[in-house]
Amino acid sequence: MFDSSGEDGGSCRKRKNRVLLPLEVGTKLTCRWRDDKYHPVTIIERKKVNDEYHYYVHYSEFNRRLDEWVKLDQLNLDATEADAVEKVEDKVRESGLKMTRHQKRKIDETHVEEGHEDFDAASLREHEEITKVKNIGKIELGRYEIDTWYFSPFPPEYSDCNKLFFCEFCLAFVKRKEQLQRHMRKCDLKHPPGDEIYRNGSLSMFEVDGRKNKVYSQNLCYLAKLFLDHKTLYYDVDLFLFYILCECDDRGCHMVGYFSKEKHSEEGYNLACILTLPPYQRKGYGKFLIAFSYELSKKETKVGTPERPLSDLGLLSYRGYWTRVLLDILKKHRGNVSIKELTDMTAIRSEDVINTLQQLELIQYRKGQYVICADPKLLDRHLKAAGRSGLEVDPSKLIWTPYKEQGG
Ligand code: ACO
Ligand code: ZN
Repeated sequence: MFDSSGEDGGSCRKRKNRVLLPLEVGTKLTCRWRDDKYHPVTIIERKKVNDEYHYYVHYSEFNRRLDEWVKLDQLNLDATEADAVEKVEDKVRESGLKMTRHQKRKIDETHVEEGHEDFDAASLREHEEITKVKNIGKIELGRYEIDTWYFSPFPPEYSDCNKLFFCEFCLAFVKRKEQLQRHMRKCDLKHPPGDEIYRNGSLSMFEVDGRKNKVYSQNLCYLAKLFLDHKTLYYDVDLFLFYILCECDDRGCHMVGYFSKEKHSEEGYNLACILTLPPYQRKGYGKFLIAFSYELSKKETKVGTPERPLSDLGLLSYRGYWTRVLLDILKKHRGNVSIKELTDMTAIRSEDVINTLQQLELIQYRKGQYVICADPKLLDRHLKAAGRSGLEVDPSKLIWTPYKEQGG
């Protein structure tokens, strides 16, 4: 056991600091991160590896996907709890003063807001307790090795594997590379099971019915949960359709991402979960998947909205998509268009249309109705700030019958 005592100096801020080792779960201090700077952390868990303790830390300024195991030498034992908290508050104050609203939207991956808004305190505590430590460190999928982001409820025999190996086509997972190689010699799938409903160049979309392809769908859920925090994926896959986006070449169709959709949604959701696998992120595939979900809604002659809560990255992607789609239409129609017409053209639910236009200060509520104000200069300015448009969906290439009409 070790103890480090700080001097009680003249400054009233400085206080007696005594740290006992091993550190307790719940201790707040600072930790050296990959930018070589010290950031405030809380110790979430600890474990003994050989003769030393490793600590699982959550960085107060960052999303939970960046939680990680660290060794004692990365931790600054001199940082008191009060210092650490003060630093976060200073940072928030500073950023609030210096950033414009648009700059705030364009935050990098470490400084995105947590997606906790729609959780009540009790369920959030329960969720965080069960999922507090990542159980799988890495996965191998096709030609990628990918670091995971969150806990996923794999069967107990797989928990605490540092690495899992997935067949990129049927999504079967095993603990050892040799097992995967053996599997690959036998597995004859070269694309997701189900129907190819879209093909444009090398991009393909497959529709997989959770009832008809149960094992594939369950494996997909286990895999996806590694990158989705606030989603319960243990529900019945029978009730869902899965839309798998692939990049195809002569070796097969390689999964890039997917979204799931309830066969019947009482709340009007047109998408349950969306994921772009990390090696493919920030290339426009997310906006493609979102656009695709609205194309399906248009075919169903319905409006739709994604299931809540949205994650930080989900919210950024949706806001970006809604902004761009609505601004393009307003520009074309010089603002002479109603909310109803906007929802009819886009299949975006009216609340999301209104919310987006309110954020952009393009709409006012006057005398009991909404009035859209679309000054061309303002539209251009917003369009410039709205980010890239993402990969386009060509609706003429979609060959699809809604589930209800398929007899579902
Ligand atoms: N930092 C800042 N902004 C980001 C980041 C990031 N790391 N990632 C995406 N964005 C924003 C940007 O505005 C980006 O547009 P831009 O590149 O033009 O600036 C926009 O989101 C979308 O970018 P895409 O390249 O189209 O999206 P991507 O393929 O990266 O997929 C997705 C977005 C699906 C949200 C991805 O980040 C992901 O899979 N995250 C993990 C799972 C998740 O959080 N899913 C959403 C949960 S909510 C739900 O399922 C209903
Ligand atoms: Zn396989």
